[in-house]
Amino acid sequence: MYNLLKGKRGLIFGALNDKSIAWKVAERASEEGATFVLTNTPVSMRLGNIDELAEKCHTIVIPADATKVQDLENLVTKGMERLGGKFDFVLHSIGMSPNVRKGRTYDDLDYNYLQQTLDISAISFHKILQVCRKFDAISDWGSVVALSYVAAQRTLYGYNDMADAKAMLESIARSFGYIYGREKRIRINTVSQSPTLTTAGSGILGFDNLVDFADRMSPLGNANAVECANYIITLFSDLTRKVTMQNLFHDGGYSNMGMSFRAMKIYTEGLEYRDVKVVKKDSN
Ligand SMILES: NC(=O)c1ccc[n+]([C@@H]2O[C@H](COP(=O)([O-])OP(=O)(O)OC[C@H]3O[C@@H](n4cnc5c(N)ncnc54)[C@H](O)[C@@H]3O)[C@@H](O)[C@H]2O)c1
Repeated sequence: MYNLLKGKRGLIFGALNDKSIAWKVAERASEEGATFVLTNTPVSMRLGNIDELAEKCHTIVIPADATKVQDLENLVTKGMERLGGKFDFVLHSIGMSPNVRKGRTYDDLDYNYLQQTLDISAISFHKILQVCRKFDAISDWGSVVALSYVAAQRTLYGYNDMADAKAMLESIARSFGYIYGREKRIRINTVSQSPTLTTAGSGILGFDNLVDFADRMSPLGNANAVECANYIITLFSDLTRKVTMQNLFHDGGYSNMGMSFRAMKIYTEGLEYRDVKVVKKDSN
């Protein structure tokens, strides 16, 4: 514990259960001395166990659907009342694709579902920022982080319309980062995280194989949810005040790899010895 968030107030979206990235961020933020309010949709509050987390962190849960501006206005007002001031940090850890859920592939999208994917996973970020700005709810030098994935830059089998949502999410961070930075020195970044075993992650087609492949490709291995939370804590702290409008990869090096020995090894099985020998020269 470093007391990195001592005296800071926050708003945390997206803790569903103890696998959630937002859950780990809340636990770490509490350990680092922050006070915050938690929020999720009424349905997710019933399905998961966010109340347990609230009890552990001595806080409350204010229900809100992040696609509904009215809910967000209520949340932001009540959240500030509860904490006795503006937020120093905000976490957007929200993602859902009805197309993924219903097994609609990218070449057979349902467009109503696509609208929902974009609204929930990307436009909600804009709505949160716009509502916070309207209510002047974030302190000067505050920090806002949203969770993204490398599918915003590169095509990955099975990630479907979430790739489009993540590209939009990262763009919103840049566009709003300019406005909020210029006006109030508020920084806005996205953290592009390794595939992580959570409820949202597990919905992706072939997710276990994706986790294994990414782990083989990353020189440092996949980053887990606690490691992701630790990184986000540094972004909420005063140690990173000039970092804004960035998409920051937190993926063990995956995003800069082309092919690794550990990934290639899968394909050498069954090859002639002379082929394998070439590969064996470099075990990195
Ligand atoms: N798990 C991974 O592999 C991975 C990798 C990179 C990025 N991410 C991103 O991390 C974020 C958090 O996901 P997670 O992996 O912790 O899974 P999770 O399922 O625990 O969290 C997703 C959250 O989104 C919330 N949510 C859905 N619709 C909402 C709405 N309308 N309003 C408010 N909240 C809503 C859910 O209730 C849930 O708490 C997402 O943006 C996800 O895309 C996940």
